[in-house]
Amino acid sequence: MFKINDNYLKLPGSYLFSTIGKKVAAYSAAHPEKEIIRLGIGDVTQPLAPVIVEALKKAVEEMGVQETFHGYAPDLGYEFLRNAIAENDYRARGCEIAADEIFVSDGAKSDSGNIQEIFSVDNKIAVCDPVYPVYVDSNVMAGRTGTYDPATGTWSDVIYMPCTMENGFSPELPKKRPDLIYLCYPNNPTGASITKDALQEWVNYANREGCVIIYDAAYEAYIAEENVPHSIYECEGARTCAIELHSFSKNAGFTGVRLGYTVVPRDLKCGDVSLHALWARRHGTKYNGAPYIVQRAGEAVYSDEGKRQLKAQVAYYMKNAQVIYEGLKEAGYTVFGGVNAPYIWLKTPGSMTSWEFFDRLLETAGVVGTPGSGFGPSGEGYFRLTAFGTYENTVKAIERIKAL
Ligand code: MLT
Repeated sequence: MFKINDNYLKLPGSYLFSTIGKKVAAYSAAHPEKEIIRLGIGDVTQPLAPVIVEALKKAVEEMGVQETFHGYAPDLGYEFLRNAIAENDYRARGCEIAADEIFVSDGAKSDSGNIQEIFSVDNKIAVCDPVYPVYVDSNVMAGRTGTYDPATGTWSDVIYMPCTMENGFSPELPKKRPDLIYLCYPNNPTGASITKDALQEWVNYANREGCVIIYDAAYEAYIAEENVPHSIYECEGARTCAIELHSFSKNAGFTGVRLGYTVVPRDLKCGDVSLHALWARRHGTKYNGAPYIVQRAGEAVYSDEGKRQLKAQVAYYMKNAQVIYEGLKEAGYTVFGGVNAPYIWLKTPGSMTSWEFFDRLLETAGVVGTPGSGFGPSGEGYFRLTAFGTYENTVKAIERIKAL
């Protein structure tokens, strides 16, 4: 008889956003008259900017002509896109990242789930608590996390780094040495950001202790403050200890188009073995590359017009963030995030648990958010709202919450 990967059986419940989706669908079916406003999953609502649509159309036309048709994409992605990324996201910020250190993919979710494959299952991971669930779930699937304790909602072999109101949602350096450290800034779900000096401490720690930081920069477009770095490679020494993940979902509306990239610097090594070579090997074997059409759309993000149009889109969502932040404050909630990030993190009222608040908000206000405990044990008693709704729905949602 064949055997399954029984690590999958260890995963409790379903993926957080699938659970929420099912709950909301069941509620909607039972109450078809209720208008539901979705501020749960961080999915964008604004249409693709005209400059992106034009690039897509042009690329589609090219695909229908013999001379400009494109088949398989190159393993690492097209040079036109990798050059644009290297120039705009790195060189312009004083970071030393070359185009051939960039791996284009179908998004940061896939890469953040898959990158662990190039590391030994014996490695210990450290995660912020609360955390984007993909980091832990993918390590569970790989068999790296030990046993699950349903009472505490923790895995025996994972080092949790609590992010609490007391530490401003910025974890301390781990007391026990991990091998892999997952960091996400601006943070999902708390909306916290990190200064360059504070991030430099993590880089120094990783180099000193021989760890790799997997740095998720999916939300960097939302950074508004000067001293907040857009990339970990703004820190000295990051080339020898950090992998960086990027998404086009949140800055350019590609959640349904799918495009992202991962940087694995050539200086990142385990002894003589280059992690860049391992990831390239995996990419070559298991991945066919993002479509030409989509990579051309990604290139348009970096054109002057693309930058202008997408800056306006980010500003649109950040106006929503302000509406949520200020509206909740006025209503007496304790609120965090929303300054350098499109997520607002709030304390649930009284002793209400995250899921109790989820149900209350859905049933009384018709508003969907994400329970903080779904992101980890330290998220209990917190709740996340996203700024990715339409402005009209965001205003309506906050009015309804205020009226509770
Ligand atoms: C979230 O809501 O945390 C994100 O949208 C999930 C994702 O980007 O995969």
